[in-house]
Amino acid sequence: MAVKLAVIYYSATGTVESMARRIAETAEAAGAEVRLRHVAELAPQEAIDSNDAWRAHVEAVADEPKAEVDDIVWADAVLFGTPTRYGNVASQLKQYLDSLSGPWSQGLLADKAYAGFTSSQTAHGGQETTLLALYNSVHHFGGIIVSPGYTDGSKFVDGNPYGVSHVTGASNDAPLTDTETTALDHLTHRVLRIAGKLAA
Ligand SMILES: Cc1cc2nc3c(=O)[nH]c(=O)nc-3n(C[C@H](O)[C@H](O)[C@H](O)COP(=O)(O)O)c2cc1C
Repeated sequence: MAVKLAVIYYSATGTVESMARRIAETAEAAGAEVRLRHVAELAPQEAIDSNDAWRAHVEAVADEPKAEVDDIVWADAVLFGTPTRYGNVASQLKQYLDSLSGPWSQGLLADKAYAGFTSSQTAHGGQETTLLALYNSVHHFGGIIVSPGYTDGSKFVDGNPYGVSHVTGASNDAPLTDTETTALDHLTHRVLRIAGKLAA
C-alpha cells in the first residue's frame, strides 16, 4: 500500500515552498500518496503588502489547498516546513500545530514518522534550533522523529543531521542548489521507508 505523506508548511516568500514542492515531487515519484498543504497566513495585509516577494507568494498560493486537521490525521508520515523566525518555528505553522488538540487527545497524531525542513537568511541563524523547537511538538504527539542523521554520504555535504535546511543569503532569495535537493530527496526517501515499516 502506498505511504501517505502530508507535507505541511509555511512560507512567506517562497523558499520553504520550493523545498516542500521538491519533497512532494520526490515522494510522488517514489510511489507515495502526497498532500502538499500550506498553512493559513495570519499576518495583517499591510505587513504582507510591505514586502513585494511576500505579497507575490501569498497571491501565488491563494487557490491552493490549505492544511486542515484531517491532513495530519490521514498521513502515515508528515514533513513540516517553516522559515526560521528568531531561531524558532513561524507562528503560522505553530498556529496549525495548536489547532491539533482534538486529534492529539485521541492519540491520532502518534506512531507516525515526522521530520522537518527549514530555511534562514544566515548560515548560523538558527536552523537547528528551529528544527529542534518543531520536534518538541512531535514528542508531545508521540510521533517518531526520523532525523536524517549522517545516514548517507550526502549528509556530510549539507551538514544538517536534524532535518534539511537552506540559507537564503544576504538578498534572501538564493535558490536551492544540488546540495539541498539531494538532502531533501534523502530525507523524503528515508521518511517514506520508515513510515512504510511503521505501517506494516
Ligand atoms: C520575523 C523574522 C525573523 C527571522 N529570523 C531569522 C533568524 O533568526 N535567522 C535567520 O537567519 N533568518 C531569519 N529570518 C529570515 C527568514 O528565515 C528567511 O527570510 C526565510 O527563511 C525565507 O523563507 P521563505 O521564503 O519560505 O519565507 C527572519 C525573518 C523574519 C521575517
